[in-house]
Amino acid sequence: MYKSSRCSTWGFFCIVFLTIISSNTLSAQDSFRVFPYLQNPGSDAMTILWFSEENSPGQLTYQREGTAAKTTITSSPVSAEDLAYSDWENSTFFGGNAPSVPFRHRIRIGNLEPGSEYEYTVTQGTDSFSSSFRTAPAGNAPIRFIVYGDPETEPESDNNLTNWVDPVSGNSRHYLIDQTTGYRNNLEVIRSRQPDLIFIAGDLVESGGEQRDWDEFWLHNAGRSGQQGIAGEVPIMAVLGNHEYFEGPYLDQYTQPGSERAIKRFLTYFESPVNNSPVEEHEGRYYSLKYGPVFFIILDVCNNGINKSDDDTNFYLLGEDDPGGGNAPGFNTGSQQHEWLEEQLVKSQVESLFTFVIFHHAPYSSGPHGYLPGEVENTDNQTGAPVRQLTPLFMKYGVDAVISGHDEIWERSEIEGMETKPDKTEEIHTIQFYDVGTGGDGLREPEEGLDNPHQKFVVHSDVPEVWENNVLRGGGKHYGHLEVDIIPDALSIWKAVLKPVYVFPVFDPGSSTYSDYERRLYDDEIILSHLIKVPGTSSFSRSYPNPFNTETTIEYFLEGACKVSIKIIDLQGRILRILENGSRDKGLFSASWDGKDENENTVASGVYLFRIETSLGQTETGRLIFMK
Ligand SMILES: [Fe+2]
Repeated sequence: MYKSSRCSTWGFFCIVFLTIISSNTLSAQDSFRVFPYLQNPGSDAMTILWFSEENSPGQLTYQREGTAAKTTITSSPVSAEDLAYSDWENSTFFGGNAPSVPFRHRIRIGNLEPGSEYEYTVTQGTDSFSSSFRTAPAGNAPIRFIVYGDPETEPESDNNLTNWVDPVSGNSRHYLIDQTTGYRNNLEVIRSRQPDLIFIAGDLVESGGEQRDWDEFWLHNAGRSGQQGIAGEVPIMAVLGNHEYFEGPYLDQYTQPGSERAIKRFLTYFESPVNNSPVEEHEGRYYSLKYGPVFFIILDVCNNGINKSDDDTNFYLLGEDDPGGGNAPGFNTGSQQHEWLEEQLVKSQVESLFTFVIFHHAPYSSGPHGYLPGEVENTDNQTGAPVRQLTPLFMKYGVDAVISGHDEIWERSEIEGMETKPDKTEEIHTIQFYDVGTGGDGLREPEEGLDNPHQKFVVHSDVPEVWENNVLRGGGKHYGHLEVDIIPDALSIWKAVLKPVYVFPVFDPGSSTYSDYERRLYDDEIILSHLIKVPGTSSFSRSYPNPFNTETTIEYFLEGACKVSIKIIDLQGRILRILENGSRDKGLFSASWDGKDENENTVASGVYLFRIETSLGQTETGRLIFMK
């Protein structure tokens, strides 16, 4: 059912971004510690979270775009004790006067319309924040999501130029812009693309236990006074990386209970769909999300098996399998997470067009974390190699792509095998594996002599730098992200287009600095196709959104040139409307219905049928739910 192809014709597509103009507004930050941001998106619900300085309720007002009816909800602030600055941070950076713990406000809005825009305003003290969001579609509808990893924010990223090894000479160099600027530019490009969802594949902060690093993360993402962030407009779905389990170099590092203290900061900030694990502490660490045509499965692979065994992804961290360990879940066969994962894969294979699995440790990599586990030369004590044991499971259920970070390489690998379909038939299948860990920290190079036999693309050697008069004009390795569009296609019905985006630093001769930037694409676009018309099955049409309230689109695939008619019928069999009646060539077509009958009258809310008949003998009836 799935196939992949490499597109070589895309070339470089670039747009200069000088400023990002926002339609949203925000006033002074004074009452907010962290501006409102979106979490846990659904087709009928959305969570809005914010943090205030004072212990006073805030007010959330929202309305569907284009409607007048407003709803107001008052929040109940809760002291966010887990976000306290440590004594070390307090004395080192604040002279003993660190800010007190903020207050957490969480409101889950329900009963929303699928695939719809909502405007909202949060008032807190004397300040207010306004933005808008979009709910998930109810069924198959085009979506765009973005994944990147390893921003590793900290205040120390300012003026910190990461190592950027010359791919030709192998010499050490500094990158052209600092980490703070690199991440900020990356986020601005992401924001300009207006995705539906963003996933960060782990290592969000440099040290999960240092509150200053989280403060920096939210200044980038939720915004600061006078500068709107992306997190108020697009839900950021977080994935646990080893740095979220790291309390910090001057605190308890990976030891317990420091690691669990670090994770509590992460869990205070992020809300994901519940996984219903019998182990309560697993909640929030791994989860799945059905969003339009895609099923996302997010894993926590930060620790596994017995410490320092061949199964261990972090020799410093003690997890649930280790005496004295914390709650980092294992993923070996028989573990709770493994059982849960298989249940999700079964569901996804049946319910969705595409399956994407996201976790932190890239299993196939030519970077330092691509070595097998160990503590001697050419091994690694924080390796992603143990996660390879999950590949057969991913293959069996036809996972389309596995997206990770950790090695900061930007590398794509492919593995081919056999998918077992729900009807037990087998089909050749390819899984794409990505390391997208170039959010805004390191820009690492492959290890000399370490072979990744599955590698198909790696920036370091596949994209040469182009220099003119000591100015970089093209190519090279930069900060960036993976942009994925899920769209209907004329030939194959639905396709996932995976675009490797990099943010190219543009030299400004006036200031002799790389002060501008452009969005560019590496020549490694991947297209995954999902054919709706599978030999041996009868379905050749879909409708979205469904249920709908203003308009629904009926897509259908014709196997050859023919006459086709599409009728809307009520449950009594009466024909209410004829949407199509004519000749068509082979291919994908669509018709839309606005809920009106032949006399232009809007029908009552309820269940209706669409019936497609063709002169080729293809006939299909589908259900439509109209909700005014
Ligand atoms: Fe990492």
